[in-house]
Amino acid sequence: MRVAAAFAALVLLAACDTGTEERDAVASTRTVQRAYMPVPPGTVPRGASAQAAALAPPGPERMPALLARGEERFRVFCTPCHGVSGRGDGPVVSRGFAPPPSYHEERLRSLAPEQIVQVITQGKGRMFPYADRVLPEDRWAIAHHIKELQARGIGAASGQESAKP
Ligand code: HEC
Repeated sequence: MRVAAAFAALVLLAACDTGTEERDAVASTRTVQRAYMPVPPGTVPRGASAQAAALAPPGPERMPALLARGEERFRVFCTPCHGVSGRGDGPVVSRGFAPPPSYHEERLRSLAPEQIVQVITQGKGRMFPYADRVLPEDRWAIAHHIKELQARGIGAASGQESAKP
């Protein structure tokens, strides 16, 4: 009789153990898993993929409003070092920061807008990135403003008083 009781207790214990061991650690999250659903039409992307899409060339159309926005953003973020005319003579430089090259140098004149967008996003050499301060659309606007400065040759020759910041 005692042997049978002990045996029954063992069986019960064993049953308990098995139950614990077999429990799936992630079973509680199963209820929130849903089948794949296609992206509904008209969905506006957000996050990293939206960022990548906004930075993909050719970027927004080069319209007067975009250029105006670019000039305004350029004056806020870039002129402290690059100067209003892009000659690399901004006030920060006059206080000892490494001078950037002039936008009117041959090498920089041949930069495509997407390359300028990349410099704003990633920085280059001694210039730190502006990705956390300048929105992707504004980076295109600034890039087109710089191309405009180059095309018009504003400040190309040094000593143009009117083009000084
Ligand atoms: C704090 C000073 C500073 C500010 C502000 C600044 N830059 Fe620069 N930038 C530099 C310096 C310095 C270089 C040269 C980097 C090097 O080659 O080491 C440079 C280089 C560049 C170049 C040339 C890259 C190449 O291929 O050589 C571009 C284009 C440029 N900057 C665009 C911008 C734009 C657009 C902004 C505003 C969003 C901006 N920079 C703001 C300092 C600055």
